[in-house]
Amino acid sequence: MSRIVKLSGLVDVHVHLREPGLEHKEDFSTGTKAAIAGGYTTVLDMPNNPRPVIDLNTLLEKIEIAEGRIYSDLGFHFGGSKSAIQFFKDVETQAFGLKIYMNQTTGPLLIENDQELDEIFSAWSKDKVVMVHAEGETLTKAINLAKKHKNKLHVCHVSLGSEIDQIKKAKKEGMDITCEVSCHHLFLTTEDTKRLGAFVIMTPPLRSKKDVEYIWKNLDVLDMIASDHAPHTLEEKKNSQKPPFGVPGLETSLPLMLNAVNEKRLSLERMVELMSTNPRKLFGLSSSEVGEQTYIEVDLEKEWTIKNEDLFTKAGWSPFDGMKVKGRLKKVILRGRLVYHDEHIFGPFGQVIFPNS
Ligand code: NCD
Ligand code: ZN
Ligand code: ZN
Ligand code: ZN
Repeated sequence: MSRIVKLSGLVDVHVHLREPGLEHKEDFSTGTKAAIAGGYTTVLDMPNNPRPVIDLNTLLEKIEIAEGRIYSDLGFHFGGSKSAIQFFKDVETQAFGLKIYMNQTTGPLLIENDQELDEIFSAWSKDKVVMVHAEGETLTKAINLAKKHKNKLHVCHVSLGSEIDQIKKAKKEGMDITCEVSCHHLFLTTEDTKRLGAFVIMTPPLRSKKDVEYIWKNLDVLDMIASDHAPHTLEEKKNSQKPPFGVPGLETSLPLMLNAVNEKRLSLERMVELMSTNPRKLFGLSSSEVGEQTYIEVDLEKEWTIKNEDLFTKAGWSPFDGMKVKGRLKKVILRGRLVYHDEHIFGPFGQVIFPNS
């Protein structure tokens, strides 16, 4: 039995494609292949490269090396730091959001100095999004700064019930705030750490069953699903005393969400809102791209098993390896072109994209 439905191309506003600097983990080609294989026609890449994207030239270089090699469309975020402020005006037409790291994670962009944070929030354009990695208590600080400077605030990878409460409250007060959750925080808990070990070391970490249930119960507070695709090699995860933070997610988010739709945990319409409509709206991605020319087809009835060996990401593994799911991507059409069909990818036909273009 099969039930094919056509959906608009998915958008992932939070991926780490690792180029330049860490091409052994992922590069623009393999990362955007993984995007296409996950039903994403557009992804936005984070600035936490070893040489962080905090100046105009580094951003332009990233754009240049991506051109002609990408399978999905690809846009970029800029990194927040004190020295980056002088480039904020220059990158307005190139970068989608400003990413500020307020807790320790992969990369050199952590900012803990209150004065610096204040200057950064104050200087970024009020029409453009500030994205924060801010967990728990730190989120309170981010919300206060965004209130003070009237920023559009987007909270990355929400994982705690208390964060949901804070965001709910801020929304009620009329604040311009949105948030995302990643599938590892929806489908795994601390209980899975025993089984999966280093493969589920990430920031924010996996949370309790209680937190995960709380997020599901408050799904209406969420604005979008983002993969936080953060690939590291099998070797790095397995054979290290201190494995790096992060898990790949581009190819498993849609299947996990389709499976949840089949389990009636949310409606298909709500899934599309979370994975396409809302991210497009927040980052002003042209809606002309949606519909006729760019879309995906999924088979809601298809039962299959997620397997490491079928993945396109260079990482080559997923914490969801071996999981049985119902619902599978069939086709991806990008600007009228067939770019994915039953596990075959055609291209590269992706484009580097810019805000409001
Ligand atoms: C991300 C990475 O590896 O780039 N890691 C992670 O655990 N999520 C960085 C981040 O999003 O915090
Ligand atoms: Zn983060
Ligand atoms: Zn991330
Ligand atoms: Zn085919």
